[in-house]
Amino acid sequence: MIDEVEAVIGAQWGDEGKGKIVDKLAASADVVVRFQGGSNAGHTVVVDDEKYVLHLIPSGILQRETVSVVGPGVVVNLRELFEEIEELDSMGIPVYERLRVASRAHVLFPFHCETDAQKEKSRGSSKIGTTQKGIGPAYVDKIQRRGLRICDLAEREKVLDFCRASIGKYEANYGRWQGSSVQQLAGEYCRYYEKLEDQVVNCPEFLRRVRQQNKKILFEGAQGTMLDIDFGTYPYVTSSNPTIGGVVTGSGFPGHRVNRVVGVTKAYTTRVGAGPFPSELEEAQDEYLREKGGEFGATTGRPRRCGWLDLMQMNYACAVNGFTDLALIKLDVLSGLDELEVVTGYRFAGERLTEFPASSEKLAEVTPITESFDGWSEEIRDCRNFSQLPVEARDYVNFIENQLDVRVSYVSVGPGREELILRT
Ligand code: GDP
Ligand code: IMO
Ligand code: MG
Repeated sequence: MIDEVEAVIGAQWGDEGKGKIVDKLAASADVVVRFQGGSNAGHTVVVDDEKYVLHLIPSGILQRETVSVVGPGVVVNLRELFEEIEELDSMGIPVYERLRVASRAHVLFPFHCETDAQKEKSRGSSKIGTTQKGIGPAYVDKIQRRGLRICDLAEREKVLDFCRASIGKYEANYGRWQGSSVQQLAGEYCRYYEKLEDQVVNCPEFLRRVRQQNKKILFEGAQGTMLDIDFGTYPYVTSSNPTIGGVVTGSGFPGHRVNRVVGVTKAYTTRVGAGPFPSELEEAQDEYLREKGGEFGATTGRPRRCGWLDLMQMNYACAVNGFTDLALIKLDVLSGLDELEVVTGYRFAGERLTEFPASSEKLAEVTPITESFDGWSEEIRDCRNFSQLPVEARDYVNFIENQLDVRVSYVSVGPGREELILRT
């Protein structure tokens, strides 16, 4: 059996360009698996000027020969899943035949979304800035051992009981439930199951068979390392593990068989939502990156906060995930800057820190130590070889690679499928 198992993981705060790299690697993969998160993700793939934004469905879906699996660690909003299937179908993608859904994945209902919105409201000025896609409340149900899984949808009574109890809980906390009734919701979700039944798989067994046939598996992370519930900037994080550990717990595939872990990072940094962000630029300064980079959320449309690349943060992401390779995205956005900066360290209370702090309060107080680089004026979107890049751009990439001691195997110079430099 040849080990042909890759994982694509966000190295920063999400939106690094994972969709584009997954699409690239999926061209030679047999199966692509999402292992955590839900429709809070928005993964963009641009093919022949057509833009696809995937939320629940893996980005491998655009590849003809690839099977896409919504894994057991994902919380699945079935209403949104079917909307996404229909939308892709209308764009000519035969989703259904390429899609599988794990029987152990937890189901996300509209009351999870409403609870998410209410919880955010009650947090006032200390709100997390969630996508309001119900992610936190769905994982709460899972961890509290009261959630409903895809396999449970075959039992109508169970679905009715769950909806009744959940709406009761919602009303006890937040007042009158204004969505569909218990009966309607249970009916709607049982019908989704009937439509989906043939695509439901027992994920660990399914992936074992795939491996026994020497086929290639690709794991698609959503969100990013700094949004990880355990290793991110807690509590300003999501409720799952977007890091390498999530691949294992969220799929039922043995971790020691994953032999390539590609960390995806922008050539600078962005973050949506609240929480510490040491390399963030002041309001007027970040305008250039936001406008040129089109830094508005793919799921919520919110403007993303922008800053320089932060190697202190990236080094920590390398420690957590053990990246074997990096993909550096949006290098083209930096064209036209006279000078660019990179954060290489943090100072706290007059001392240089040697480790990435665990405390978000402390992280919010650090003073970044930066190094400046000469910029380049040339547009680079047509470059397909590393040697075609301006020397300043090459110096920038080489510096990152040397500092992190991880090969930058991919350099992305535009959103399109072809706008990619391979250095493998
Ligand atoms: P994901 O969530 O990690 O998949 O990333 P998103 O899709 O949310 O955000 C990445 C954005 O950058 C999308 O709009 C992509 O089309 C775009 N993009 C990807 N690679 C590049 C690149 O190299 N250059 C530019 N300018 N845009 C890119
Ligand atoms: P992709 O997969 C960027 C952020 C939200 C918020 C925090 C918690 O496209 O990279 P949640 O709704 O998950 O409870 O929100 O996480 N967030 C993302 N930021 N990209 C994402 O996904 C994100 N998914 C969640 O903005 O700060
Ligand atoms: Mg995104």
